[in-house]
Amino acid sequence: MTETVLEEKFRETGGKRPYVQRLFGRIARIYDPMNRLMSFGLDRRWRAFAARYLALGTGELGLDLGVGTADLSIAVIRRSGPGTRMIGMDITPEMLELGRAKIARLGLQDQIELRVGDAEAIALPDNSIDGCCSAFTVRNVTDIRQGFREMLRVVRPGGRVVCLEVSHPPGKIFSPLFHFYFYKLAPLFGSIIGKAFEEYNYLPNSLTNFPDAPALQAIMEEVGWSDVRFYRLNGGIVAVHVGTKE
Ligand SMILES: C[S@@+](CC[C@H](N)C(=O)[O-])C[C@H]1O[C@@H](n2cnc3c(N)ncnc32)[C@H](O)[C@@H]1O
Repeated sequence: MTETVLEEKFRETGGKRPYVQRLFGRIARIYDPMNRLMSFGLDRRWRAFAARYLALGTGELGLDLGVGTADLSIAVIRRSGPGTRMIGMDITPEMLELGRAKIARLGLQDQIELRVGDAEAIALPDNSIDGCCSAFTVRNVTDIRQGFREMLRVVRPGGRVVCLEVSHPPGKIFSPLFHFYFYKLAPLFGSIIGKAFEEYNYLPNSLTNFPDAPALQAIMEEVGWSDVRFYRLNGGIVAVHVGTKE
């Protein structure tokens, strides 16, 4: 699926947001196992790394945008102090339904609440959140700057942001290897094992125009986040960006 084909599909569906919402609605049931398979289990470690940076203090409230099936929220709560709570928001009800079932199985209903909500128009008051996080969401939003602006608005002064995303590995040898895997093999797994050809072809295309790690840092700084830095994991396959609100 080329960029032009993807743009055409967004137009046919009424924009990127409804396209993304329907896409995740269709793959919700296979989302977790496909994640484990396609990342060779590394996705759990990546979320654990991100969660350590958000780790909430006693009584603090965190927000997970594009919470999906709630793996990042669960990882944050496991690394946080007593009495901490997370709100998870997502535009795809099917993902939230699976997330709620998982949270109930783990007995975490009192600590994690899932809501339908848009990362680009967060239905929360200014300065109401201690820390905001997202995993593999920012690549899917329509306007990255608007997403980071909204996070800045709802986080209190002194609060933090953590963003885990697929990135562009910098190495001259590793980068082509990763691209071969991400653009050729991963969609093949998704098509054959997950039986979801279009959905897992969207995956690599969503990275093509996504900023590399230094450019994403620049965007976060531009909209007002302070002390922004990033950590590349596994050769830069993914990057974790962190920042604070002054
Ligand atoms: C790749 S999944 C990531 C799910 C989860 N964070 C994880 O770590 O597995 C991306 C999620 O972002 C959600 N999403 C996309 N655009 C969004 C938006 N504008 N606001 C809220 N959620 C959004 C999708 O519905 C999907 O559940």
